[in-house]
Amino acid sequence: MAFLSSSSSKQSLSSSSSSRLFLLVTLLPLSLASFAFLLQWRGGINDLVTKWFTDNQPFPGIASSPNVSRVLESIPGVKVIHRTKELEEQQAKSRIWNETWLEKFFYKPCNHELFVKQNLNMEMAITMARDDGMDWILHLDTDELVHPSGTPEYSLRSLLRDVPEYVDSVIFTNYESTVERDDIKEPFSEVSMFKKNYEHLPREVYFSSYKEATRGNPNYFLTYANGKSAARIQDGLRPNGAHRWYNYNTIPNAIVLDEAAILHYTYSRFSDLTSRRNRCGCKTNKEDVKRCFMLEFDRAAFIIASSSTSEEMLQWYREKVVWTDDKLKLKLLRRGVLTRIYEPMVIIQELREAGVFTSVVNSAHMSISMNRNNNSSTSNITKESSQATTRKILEFNLDNESQAVPPQSPPILESTHNV
Ligand SMILES: *[C@@H]1O[C@H](CO)[C@@H](O)[C@H](O)[C@H]1NC(C)=O
Ligand SMILES: *[C@@H]1O[C@H](CO)[C@@H](O)[C@H](O)[C@H]1NC(C)=O
Ligand SMILES: *[C@@H]1O[C@H](CO)[C@@H](O)[C@H](O)[C@H]1NC(C)=O
Ligand SMILES: *[C@@H]1O[C@H](CO)[C@@H](O)[C@H](O)[C@H]1NC(C)=O
Ligand SMILES: *[C@@H]1O[C@H](CO)[C@@H](O)[C@H](O)[C@H]1NC(C)=O
Ligand SMILES: *[C@@H]1O[C@H](CO)[C@@H](O)[C@H](O)[C@H]1NC(C)=O
Repeated sequence: MAFLSSSSSKQSLSSSSSSRLFLLVTLLPLSLASFAFLLQWRGGINDLVTKWFTDNQPFPGIASSPNVSRVLESIPGVKVIHRTKELEEQQAKSRIWNETWLEKFFYKPCNHELFVKQNLNMEMAITMARDDGMDWILHLDTDELVHPSGTPEYSLRSLLRDVPEYVDSVIFTNYESTVERDDIKEPFSEVSMFKKNYEHLPREVYFSSYKEATRGNPNYFLTYANGKSAARIQDGLRPNGAHRWYNYNTIPNAIVLDEAAILHYTYSRFSDLTSRRNRCGCKTNKEDVKRCFMLEFDRAAFIIASSSTSEEMLQWYREKVVWTDDKLKLKLLRRGVLTRIYEPMVIIQELREAGVFTSVVNSAHMSISMNRNNNSSTSNITKESSQATTRKILEFNLDNESQAVPPQSPPILESTHNV
């Protein structure tokens, strides 16, 4: 979850400063946020950092270890909310339980339970963001990044600042990681190839590449394809599933913003197969798996991870997830179905070289009782920018918005006839 204050952010930067410093300074808030995510993947940030996070976590986001929490809490602008008994009791009293829009996800295991929790968390986050005077709220998972490539300074803040007043919510489409190795440890700094969302492809390219891009999997994307969205903080705002926001009082105006995309690093590590399995106590028969998971690929992955040897699992992972066929990659890269995105990788490497991660970990390590919620945050470092952009207005109730929007797969080949 990220809160963004888009209005209070102007700072002039001397044009004589070196471009490298400029990049680092401009990207620092974003990078610290991604560091927060990175921490959850542990892995080889460097020896010191790795040594400090030796415990195994069930899966990113479910519960940070005390060491991880301590580091996160020491980062200016980062607030960690612990899933305490009090929090659960408060969420048990949420009005969401009395509403019909989320009810079909209630009292079902695994991904459905997670989905309900996400909505309860989003609801609390709206209140907190409002109390803190935030302008926008965005819900992201720990395996996702925002990639504002269509903005002059790679700035989500400047993008949101330019959104017209009458717009209540913006939708970002998502791209999906396409890993080229089976031994990735730290996806944000090791993955550079992504599959574009069908929303960013000409229809004929999408359908003519469908089979090759899908590689025998149930869908063009392994997991969801319906993007994520950010909403303006205002009266009546409510979550509408993990992918959208809605309003109790009115029908909100939503637009699609093509200047940014969500990068979803899905199943980018082989160990994601087992960690996803471990979070669900499902049986492996078809009925049970269907109750546990919303998406076809998650179901297939769960069955493999629950019923195969590790050699078979690795074999399956290589077949379904890892891209090793250079000719196919080149072909799909040329068609624009696959694309290279280096920014997250470069940012993280630069920060690592500049010692930012080490010093954050060190300082958290040194002063356990570090000042929390300190105001000297880096969060208002951005430059002014403005650019008129073409935006298409969406009828917000395209999907039946009286119901929460679940993760959705992309259109399948058979639907050619309907579109
Ligand atoms: C937390 O960090 C300390 C070093 O400060 C280390 O000794 C300890 O093993 C770490 N705990 C876990 C669970 O990783
Ligand atoms: C939910 O509905 C019950 C029964 O109508 C009511 O007692 C309760 O106050 C409601 N809770 C909220 C948070 O609206
Ligand atoms: C930050 O500072 C402002 C004004 O100095 C104050 O009103 C606000 O409560 C502070 N916030 C936090 C989280 O300390
Ligand atoms: C905030 O942090 C700075 C240095 O990081 C410190 O000097 C200052 O006293 C802190 N302020 C509060 C209110 O904790
Ligand atoms: C943040 O913005 C406020 C108001 O524009 C300004 O007074 C303050 O100095 C800025 N802080 C930083 C760290 O840039
Ligand atoms: C929307 O969903 C509700 C609840 O499932 C249903 O009653 C209604 O008919 C749906 N409306 C449309 C237009 O599909």
